[in-house]
Amino acid sequence: MFGREAIEYKTREQVQAMRRAGLVVAQAHAAVREAVRPGLTTADLDAVAAGVIEGAGATPSFLGYHGYPATLCVSVNDEIVHGIPGDRQLEPGDVVSVDCGAIVDGWHGDAAFTVVLPDADPADVALSDTTERAMWAGIAALATGERLGVVGDAVEDVVAAAPVTYGIVQEYVGHGIGSAMHQPPEVLNYRARGKSPKLRAGLCVAIEPMLTRGSRMTQVLEDDWTVVTEDGTRAAHWEHTVAIGPEGIWVLTAADGGAQRLAELGVTVAPWE
Ligand code: MF3
Ligand code: CO
Repeated sequence: MFGREAIEYKTREQVQAMRRAGLVVAQAHAAVREAVRPGLTTADLDAVAAGVIEGAGATPSFLGYHGYPATLCVSVNDEIVHGIPGDRQLEPGDVVSVDCGAIVDGWHGDAAFTVVLPDADPADVALSDTTERAMWAGIAALATGERLGVVGDAVEDVVAAAPVTYGIVQEYVGHGIGSAMHQPPEVLNYRARGKSPKLRAGLCVAIEPMLTRGSRMTQVLEDDWTVVTEDGTRAAHWEHTVAIGPEGIWVLTAADGGAQRLAELGVTVAPWE
């Protein structure tokens, strides 16, 4: 995807601008999470996020990206990522993945969460919980690892330890992020051979595992955006933007910087302030 393009290592000031963008994304997430319920359309969720981003004086990063027509990606049930908000009405038990990006002073934040609506199938809740745990394990691995490949190792370990089998999507991966939403390096969610980039201060990455309840194979719908599972099983997607600083890691799109979830994994966050 990025070939041999150089990694953009950020300064403290640049990471602080990314933190401001990350907090806008966190605020948009919180508002959507509060609003989401059966009967709303995915376009309704988009309007909620657009209002928060505009109110914060920030810019939505997805809108207009390669012609993308909305502020959010909202991906429901067998949709994995890049679902376009529209008149689809949410139903009880739906698995709803919400992805949001914002720009502040030219610097990006990007994050996603999945929510399972009331009357949930417990297996769908487990799918989302496992994907979330895989994301946090991948983030925690950045705190102690030598190279970026530790993320894929950690995601695979969480999936392997789960009591049921999940597919780990491979066609869509995490990415460097900074003065653009998508930058090198790619961040794989599976174990791979070969050397990955060294982890060092100034590296900022979006960690975003996608799991399915069946096969890992994907398909793109006629709209040229929506990615669905080939076998029709449901999928979940979780994502955070993370900065590596001189003292440790900082989850820029988490309101608390990742403190609570990372403490559970034995990691202390180190805001680069
Ligand atoms: N957050 C998505 C990604 O992770 C980006 C969505 S791109 C858009 O990398 F084109 F849909 F806007
Ligand atoms: Co992303």
